[in-house]
Amino acid sequence: MRTQVAIIGAGPSGLLLGQLLHKAGIDAIILERQTGEYVLGRIRAGILEQVTIDLLDEAGVGTRMHKEGIPHHGFDMLFGGERHRIDMTGLTGGKQVMVYGQTELTRDLMDARKTANLPTVYEAGNVTVHDFDTLKPRVRYEKDGKTHEIECDFIAGCDGFHGVCRASVPRGAVTEYEKVYPFGWLGLLSDTPPVHEELIYANSTRGFSLCSMRSQTRSRYYLQVPLSDRVEDWSDEAFWQELRLRLDPPAREKLVTGPSLEKSIAPLRSFVAEPMRFGRMFLAGDAAHIVPPTGAKGLNLAASDVKYLCGSIIEFYKERSEAGINHYSDRCLRRIWKGERFSWWFTNLMHRFPNDGAIGQKLQEAELEYLIGSKAASTVMAENYVGLPL
Ligand code: APR
Ligand code: PHB
Repeated sequence: MRTQVAIIGAGPSGLLLGQLLHKAGIDAIILERQTGEYVLGRIRAGILEQVTIDLLDEAGVGTRMHKEGIPHHGFDMLFGGERHRIDMTGLTGGKQVMVYGQTELTRDLMDARKTANLPTVYEAGNVTVHDFDTLKPRVRYEKDGKTHEIECDFIAGCDGFHGVCRASVPRGAVTEYEKVYPFGWLGLLSDTPPVHEELIYANSTRGFSLCSMRSQTRSRYYLQVPLSDRVEDWSDEAFWQELRLRLDPPAREKLVTGPSLEKSIAPLRSFVAEPMRFGRMFLAGDAAHIVPPTGAKGLNLAASDVKYLCGSIIEFYKERSEAGINHYSDRCLRRIWKGERFSWWFTNLMHRFPNDGAIGQKLQEAELEYLIGSKAASTVMAENYVGLPL
């Protein structure tokens, strides 16, 4: 088998890259370890920056997003028992974000792929990447008891944090930067109306919490929990009770509870691998970087990688120029580090850090007061939240 681009991973990065390449008339095959249903079952954040919205439109998959997504112009910061609104749109000269779940976006991309009859191999076993330091890379995988080989011009490593692509690079060729936070997020999804029309990020003495949503009838809530907690130990009732304690009285009053559709604990990590290009293999999305979810930058950074990568590959085929692929890694990393910084800063501002004690809390309070009291500080927050320009 031969293709121009072998894409490893059918998460948002791989699917979006496949769709954009297809639009440009470039062939690709996607290899995915899991089933499609499994991929759709993973619940992740769902806040899209304008850059991401534009890219989905460019890929021709924006119709349902524009119909069902909810534009947001601000969000609330809750601390010291009081809520303060950050007027995102007012502070950024008219910018906004869109609430649209990653699951829905993934489904739209899968549907577009199916409609265009593009090849995706689900349940591809034991994927291995070869000869990406030459002009003739190859990818092997197993399916239905047989070994298959794909010859290609490029390999796109869109295979997430635990993928095979980054792991196949010689140890000395990659530098990894990592910070693991001493807590996790317990998330709960429920068919209940959101407690507020905008998101509430809460810094409480009991720990961080977040009130988010997927639609007018579906809510997503999170609680900061110790890493030692297990999801089995959290009944729905215990979750709602703890969330109430972390909210202000009006929100507590308004909160509608119900059975969970999904409940899981995710660890928080900041991670970057440099560089993101190894000869004819590129990393994109979670394969190259992870942010803690505070601020929902993960999917948006993945989308900007894909935009740069797709542009570079198109330039290679259409203009016979390697300039784009040569700059890919540097261009991505400049934006990624800014996203990493923002997510790290927002995480530090909002969570209880077990070792920071009373002074840590006092410093957070001072920063939060400064943030909402200073237009300059609020603007810094708002312009990062809506997404920095490409
Ligand atoms: N072979 C084939 N597929 C693999 C392999 C492998 N060895 N390893 C991993 N995969 C698949 C995973 O099963 C997964 O479906 O690669 C896909 C990677 O998808 P994601 O982890 O969703 O990563 P990405 O597409 O970059 O999406 C980034 O996801 O985690 C969030 O915050 C992140 O929202 C951002 C988005
Ligand atoms: C979510 O809705 O899952 C979400 C929203 C905002 C965040 C993180 C997660 O900052």
